This record gives sequence, structure tokens and C-alpha cells, in this order.
Amino acid sequence: MDFTITEEHKMIRDAARDFAQTELLPGVIERDENQSFPSEQIKKLGELGFLGMMVDPKYGGAGMDTISYVLAMEEISKVDASCSVVMSVNNSLVCWGLETFGTEEQKQKYLVPLAKGEIIGAFCLSEPEAGSDATSQRTTAFDKGDHYLLNGTKNWITNGGTSSVYLVIAQTDIEKGHKGINAFIVEKGMDGFVVGPKENKLGIRGSDTHSLMFTDVKIPKENRIGEDGFGFKFAMKTLSGGRVGIAAQALGIASGAYELALQYSKERKAFGKEINQHQAIAFKLADMATEIEAARLLCLKAAWQKDNGFSYDLSGAMAKVFASEIAMKTTVEAVQIHGGYGFVKEYHVERLMRDAKITQIYEGTSEIQRIIISRSILK
Ligand code: CAA
Repeated sequence: MDFTITEEHKMIRDAARDFAQTELLPGVIERDENQSFPSEQIKKLGELGFLGMMVDPKYGGAGMDTISYVLAMEEISKVDASCSVVMSVNNSLVCWGLETFGTEEQKQKYLVPLAKGEIIGAFCLSEPEAGSDATSQRTTAFDKGDHYLLNGTKNWITNGGTSSVYLVIAQTDIEKGHKGINAFIVEKGMDGFVVGPKENKLGIRGSDTHSLMFTDVKIPKENRIGEDGFGFKFAMKTLSGGRVGIAAQALGIASGAYELALQYSKERKAFGKEINQHQAIAFKLADMATEIEAARLLCLKAAWQKDNGFSYDLSGAMAKVFASEIAMKTTVEAVQIHGGYGFVKEYHVERLMRDAKITQIYEGTSEIQRIIISRSILK
């Protein structure tokens, strides 16, 4: 078993690290404070190929593998998780879903500009009463002959205001349960589609989260993704890959906080020595480093399985639940190591602590990941 990463992977990781330090770090505190969407930064990420990383170059993508994506997500998330969630949703949920299950026409029309980063997309599954219980969709899209008529509300949609393309999951035949669900491509500006106000969030405050309201929106038949009734499986398969991306985001938040805490522990003196010379701090750093390494290995294993044609539902769920829990734990400890400085914005760790929380919630809560893991090991 070879644990080394290739020269190409190192180059991608270093490019993402440089980008994070030069383009994301300046202004990240202000963007968080003002809830400003990182438009300029996202544009540049797109130009560098980070918004369609795994898409075939013939559809405008960078043609990289999932390992590259995990390495890049970690580096971007160390500095700005508001930016990396945009990257994650566009890559894993929108581009991957369209490339894997879309028609050639859908790919040419929507995937190409999404993969090039000319536009961004959103994945719309969650509803006021159907977050974790994804089969209980209340949004409907009834077949009206040459089109579907979409009605309902979606909640907490990442990229909700800034997207041009929305993949919307809706019930088309209530009698059929999850087999009566379909996924549709909805364009911003379609009649009857209204974007609600931006949510004022605890973390990832620069990202753009909205409710979406659909009233008698006419969706052309050709905008359905896959065969009739494929929508629930489309969502589940797409989310399986999305979880690898969010696991890498959580890993990045944890490793960003750890690196700041390690650095601070070398600068800060107390009781006559650097604080890392006190066992109370040294042991915290040892635990952080160990848990981050374990999370990184889980993320890379899931990515490797995805790249090599193995099932990654289980490894992705394990990576996500573990990485998100150590992100929360590590960021809390990073604040603690910083003492009073950790509680103020200039030192970044309080933001990372707030950002960490969402990784335990979106793309399936920690409880959902445990359902997936336990069903897999008990079946
Ligand atoms: N791949 C393929 N098919 C799958 C699948 C997968 N990963 N998971 C389930 N299925 C299939 C099952 O095989 C089954 O098909 P059959 O009936 O043909 O056998 C069907 O889907 C129904 O499966 P379940 O009976 O397991 O469904 P369930 O109702 O028990 O729910 C669940 C399963 C895993 C809990 C699912 O509801 C789930 O993942 N919920 C969480 C949803 C979620 O992640 N929401 C986050 C919103 S998106 C987001 O956060 C994006 C963002 O903005 C950042």
C-alpha cells in the first residue's frame, strides 16, 4: 500500500494553498462579518478550474480525480469555508450530477458553463419538513403533457441567490413514494420562481443561503434528469459524492484551526516558557494532529474508492461523520489554546469554530451518516 501522493497531486494542493493564502485570506474576516458573498474569489477559482475539477475537459472541466478535489477542498477550507462550500456544491452536487446522469443536450447547455465556472449552480432537496427525511418531498411537479408544473418551497439552499442553474427534486407521483420523485433543471428567471431573503447564519456567513419558492413554474420536459422516477436515487447518488467533499471541507476547517493553534503555541509564553512546553497544551496538539490525520485518511480512502470504481457510500459517510466531529472538537480546542485571543475575530479560530458546525448538519446530519453506516454494517 502506497501512502505517497503524486507530484501532480502535490501541484494541485500547492496551487490551492497559494490561492487560499493570497486570494482568500485577505478580507475573509470582513466577508464573514458582512455576510458578503466572495464573488471575485469564486470567479478566480472558476478560471483556475476549481469549480469543475472532476468534469471531463470536453465539457469544460479540469479532468482531475477525486483525490485532487479532496486535497484542494482541504486547502481552500483551511482559510475560507464560505468559499469552499460553493466549490463543493458546484463540483460534487451540480456538475457531477449533470455529467453522470444528464443528456448530451443538458451537458452542452448547462454543464459546460458550470464546469468552466462561468455560472454556478445549486442543489435543491431540503424543504421545511423534509431535510433528513428526503423521501417526504412536498414540492410537486405534475406532468402536464409537454411540461411539468412545479410548486413548493425549498429551504437552506446553498448558492440560492447567486446560482443560474438549480437542480430541484420534486414529487411527481405521490402514490409512488420515493419512486415518484424526479429531479429537474430549473433556470433562474423562470416565471413563478422567487428567491427568498438571504439567511443570517452562525457560520459560513459569506456563502449564500436562501429559501426558494416555486409557483406554477413551467419546466420543459427535456429538463428532467434521467428516467421517470429516478429523482430520489439521483439525489442519493449525488449526495454520496457530496459527502466526500464536505468531509474534506470539515478536514480543512480542522487542519486550519490546528495550524493556527500550533503557531500560536510557539509564540505565546506563560509561566516562563512557550505554552506548547506545558503538557496541557502539548497533549491537546497531539490529539488534534492524530485526529486530523485519521480524518484525512478516511477522506482520501473514500476519494480513492470513487476514482477506482468501488462503492463509496460507506466510506464517504464515515469520512463525513468523523471529519465533521473532529472539526467541531478541534476548533473548540484551538479557541481554548488561544485563550482570550481565540474569542476575538482577528485570530480566525472563532470563525472556524462557527463554520465547523454546519459540516455536522448539511448534506446529511451526523445522525443520517450513522444511519447509512449502521445499515451498511448490519445488513
Ligand atoms: N445510492 C443509490 N440508491 C440509494 C442510495 C444511494 N446512496 N441510498 C438509498 N438508495 C435507494 C435505496 O436502494 C432504495 O431503493 P429501492 O427501493 O429501489 O431499493 C431507495 O433509494 C430508498 O432508500 P431508503 O429506503 O434507504 O430511503 P430512506 O427513506 O430510508 O432514507 C436516507 C435514506 C439515507 C436517510 C436518506 O433519506 C438521506 O440521505 N437523507 C439525508 C438527505 C440529505 O443529505 N439532505 C441534505 C440536503 S442537500 C445539502 O445539504 C446541500 C447543500 O446545500 C450543501
